[in-house]
Amino acid sequence: MTTRTKAKSRLRANKSKAPAKKSASTTVRSAKKPAKKSVKVAVHKPPAKSASGNGLPRPSSKPWGQAGRALDGVRILDFTHVQSGPTCTQLLAFMGADVIKVERPNVGDITRGQLRDVKGADSLYFTMLNGSKRSITIDSKHAKGKEILDRLVQECDVLVENFAPGALDRMGLTFEHIHKLNPRMIVASVKGFGPGPYENCKVYENVAQCAGGSASTTGFHDGPPLVTGAQIGDSGTGLHLALGIVAALYQRTRTGRGQKVLCAMQDGVLNLARVKLRDQQRLAHGPLTEYSQYGEGVAFGDTVPRAGNDSGGGQPGWILKCKGYESDPNAYIYFITQAPVWGAICDVIGRPEWKTDPDYATPNARLPRLKHIFATIEQWTMTKTKFEAMDILNRLDIPCGPILSMKELAHEESLRATGTVVEVDHPTRGTYLTVGNPIKLSDSIADVRRSPLLGEHTDEVLRDVLKYAEREIETIKASGAISATEQKAEAA
Ligand code: COA
Repeated sequence: MTTRTKAKSRLRANKSKAPAKKSASTTVRSAKKPAKKSVKVAVHKPPAKSASGNGLPRPSSKPWGQAGRALDGVRILDFTHVQSGPTCTQLLAFMGADVIKVERPNVGDITRGQLRDVKGADSLYFTMLNGSKRSITIDSKHAKGKEILDRLVQECDVLVENFAPGALDRMGLTFEHIHKLNPRMIVASVKGFGPGPYENCKVYENVAQCAGGSASTTGFHDGPPLVTGAQIGDSGTGLHLALGIVAALYQRTRTGRGQKVLCAMQDGVLNLARVKLRDQQRLAHGPLTEYSQYGEGVAFGDTVPRAGNDSGGGQPGWILKCKGYESDPNAYIYFITQAPVWGAICDVIGRPEWKTDPDYATPNARLPRLKHIFATIEQWTMTKTKFEAMDILNRLDIPCGPILSMKELAHEESLRATGTVVEVDHPTRGTYLTVGNPIKLSDSIADVRRSPLLGEHTDEVLRDVLKYAEREIETIKASGAISATEQKAEAA
């Protein structure tokens, strides 16, 4: 039996028991304090003896990220599409969960064909959000399809979906139905809004950015609201959902029971815009002095204004031009005038007198002059490339960051080395770059593989997971509940 199979059978065996008090599969390790955590949370079988003989687990002797898979034995029924849900399930797949993506026969996730760059191949939109998963086609509204889904519900630990409100219920997969079939099942959903006036609305990324408070606080104070390039509505909510699922899996080890996990995109964006709700409350007590409009003498209204490139924390920052900005749209650096290194900043830009000048020497004295200060610093940064400026400033402990383009990030060797940027091969589109697992676990493999073709694993799942006989599979195909032919990597 392989380690993976062993872990799976242990998990399945746990299913039939009464709520496990403590399970080996839930051991929580902390690099710093393994002893305390293990004693409190874990294990029903004795851990390996440590060198010191105290009975507590030793650190793995395997190289970083090679000691198994964190979510081995967790099987996910993935009913997600577009971006938010797929972000969540892809991350769980990277951490070792067996993710079975259910797609509509002959159609699949709509993103397979959206923003297509290579004729006849799945788009990067799809491939970069569905790596390391298996794909099965099932018509969830077909009687036979419903039967297959019921069997999958019994075989899986988590169902993840991000359909429009009510769609899962309309398929007959109500929580009550699922819970009857598998009381251990965790049902995790992304919706645009939580309960309230907008709960029935369909929502995409930018709607969430606007409704969650991000857009009203992004942009320049004298310009219109802006959305950000980072997909905080979709991918951000997918990350929130993944955390909710892992927490529910952990709680299940004590209760033996599944539960619903709901992440609303509005809530996820607001959570990420938390510091802006902080500022909303600060406004009642006076102007936001770190916002550059304070230094520019522009009055504050009664809501948090857009802060341009002002730093979101207590240390003023701004984006400054670097050498080559005339032709390179990303020849810029983010520069933070952190108070403890103010002296070093003055020296490096050639204004040592500012260290003692009462108009510049203290953070409060500088606040009304930030525009002039950053313009002066920019005179210096414009004499350096962003990387030269980085080298000099980092040596002086001055916090700064280059504006990196996607082209630069794609070629950044350190990101390749850590597996944050990964090259994978695909049978119809060839090699493509994807973002691997940004969460690094010392004891878990980051399982980053290519996305599946539509229905590539239909036969495999029906046969190996659901134990249908070959003859039954042929009957199911003839019924129209699944695609008659699978897309096969070899044939592509
Ligand atoms: N077999 C048969 N029917 C299927 C199916 C399958 N395998 N998979 C999906 N469908 C059906 C659904 O049952 C639904 O039918 P119904 O409306 O008759 O009940 C239909 O496909 C469409 O689903 P829906 O979710 O409404 O898709 P949409 O393209 O109209 O809307 C969103 C897309 C993203 C706006 C919407 O799903 C949504 O608001 N989701 C929640 C928020 C979210 O995640 N947004 C971010 C997306 S990145």
